[in-house]
Amino acid sequence: MPEAPFQIRPMRDDDRLPLAVVFAAVAEERDGIASEPPVDIEARAASWTLDGTLVAVVSGAVVGSVHVDASRHGFGEIGMAVAREWRGRGVGSALLEAAIQWARERGLHKLSLSVFAHNTAAIGLYRKLGFVEEGRRVKQYRRSSGELWDAIDMGLLLSN
Ligand SMILES: CC(C)(COP(=O)(O)OP(=O)(O)OC[C@H]1O[C@@H](n2cnc3c(N)ncnc32)[C@H](O)[C@@H]1OP(=O)(O)O)[C@@H](O)C(=O)NCCC(=O)NCCS
Repeated sequence: MPEAPFQIRPMRDDDRLPLAVVFAAVAEERDGIASEPPVDIEARAASWTLDGTLVAVVSGAVVGSVHVDASRHGFGEIGMAVAREWRGRGVGSALLEAAIQWARERGLHKLSLSVFAHNTAAIGLYRKLGFVEEGRRVKQYRRSSGELWDAIDMGLLLSN
C-alpha cells in the first residue's frame, strides 16, 4: 500500500484561517453541512475551538477537519468536512478514526451527530466506523432555497 499523502494532527492557532476557507468552500456546495453562504471567513476563523479539533494536512495545506464538541454529560457531537478535491481518498475515515480515539482518551461514553438524510457519502462513512441510526428529524432544516430538509441522528457508543 502507498503511504497516505495526508497527516492528521490536532488543530493549531495558525490553522484557523485556512480551515475557515475550506469551510466556506464546503458551505458554497449547499449540500453537506448546515451552514450556507455567505460565510464570514474572519468570524469563522475566530470561532473555531481548538480543543477537540483535528485537521487533515497535505503538504502543509489544511484539507479537512473534524471537531468533537464534548458535552459535560459524557457525549460528544461530531462535525466534519473534507475539501471536495480530497474526498474519496480516505481523509474522512482517518479524521473520524482519530476523533473516536480522541473521544475515548477524553473518557466520553458516546459520539453523536446529525446528517442530512440525502448525504449518502457521510452516512456511508459513519456506518463504516460503527455509527448507527437513532432517529430522523423530519423537515428539520430550513434552507435558503426554502426547502425543508430531514436529518438523521446517528450515534456510536464507546462504552456502556
Ligand atoms: C462526508 C465526507 C467527510 C467524507 O470524507 P471522505 O474523505 O470523502 O471519506 P473517505 O474517502 O474516507 O470515505 C469513507 C467512506 O465514506 C463512504 N463514502 C465516501 N464517499 C462516498 C460516496 N460518494 N457515496 C457513498 N459512500 C461514500 C464510503 O463508505 C467510504 O468508505 P470506503 O472508501 O471504504 O468505501 C466528505 O464527503 C465531505 O466532507 N462532504 C461534505 C461535508 C459533509 O457532508 N460533512 C458531513 C456533515 S454531517
